[in-house]
Amino acid sequence: MAVFFVSEFSTAPPLASACLFPSADQTPGVKVLVTSGPTREPIDPVRFLTNRSSGKMGYALAGAFAHEGHSVLLVSGPTNLDVPANVDFIPVETAAEMHDIVSKHIGRMDIAVFAAAVADYTPATVQPRKIKKSGDTLALELVRTADILGSARQPFGFTGTLVGFAAETENLESNAREKLIRKHCDLVIANDVSKPGMGFDSDQNEVLLVYPGRTESLPAASKHELSLQLVDAIVLLSTNDSQPLTNH
Ligand code: PMT
Repeated sequence: MAVFFVSEFSTAPPLASACLFPSADQTPGVKVLVTSGPTREPIDPVRFLTNRSSGKMGYALAGAFAHEGHSVLLVSGPTNLDVPANVDFIPVETAAEMHDIVSKHIGRMDIAVFAAAVADYTPATVQPRKIKKSGDTLALELVRTADILGSARQPFGFTGTLVGFAAETENLESNAREKLIRKHCDLVIANDVSKPGMGFDSDQNEVLLVYPGRTESLPAASKHELSLQLVDAIVLLSTNDSQPLTNH
């Protein structure tokens, strides 16, 4: 997610649940990792770059997988949401932290779903003290973050069902299909984040399911309802995909 806004004097809101470190392997069903929320990339002790993700989409998915009896690990940037019942949770702040946690846990998962709006760029240096006002302009040097979804197959070596999201403002299907191929996904869930009331920080969403050989449209619905449909589609894909990948 390349669009940032700068937040000033914000401290991390208290997370709604403590870090419940994975206990999950006793739960029947498949093992699922879900990333969610925004990341925060620090500029100095009081400012960071972030985006408009509320975490609602990822939390709804994590809750829906758990509701269906699957074992879920939710890795999320800062949100104001309560962690869904029966979901293991690891909070992170930065893209680098999310990368690190995902790299450690993805290997034991059957399914990984990347709903997080991860910063594509982070400040090249973090100032140890609050930056003082001086000139009329201030230039920040940004450097690329690691592409976590793009690292899932290699170097992480994930062989399970890989589901990405695509947040687009134009050419929804073709941009999502390009991400599907480039990031070696089995499915990309594409949302048009320029549509009012959909996507970022809304309770509703409308998505395209972009598979290697076809595209399916799911009409606008609450993120809760949509997640139940998405879980069915992803678990079906995972069941069918116990055969080797042929599309990459
Ligand atoms: O959180 P909400 O307010 O409910 O909003 C939901 C949402 C709009 C954030 C969600 O539906 C969504 O679209 N999430 C993906 C947002 C995004 O960053 O999309 P992207 O097209 O920039 O990235 C493509 C994919 O690569 C995503 O799966 C993303 O998680 C992943 N990615 C991107 C960059 C990066 N450095 N690492 C990644 O893993």
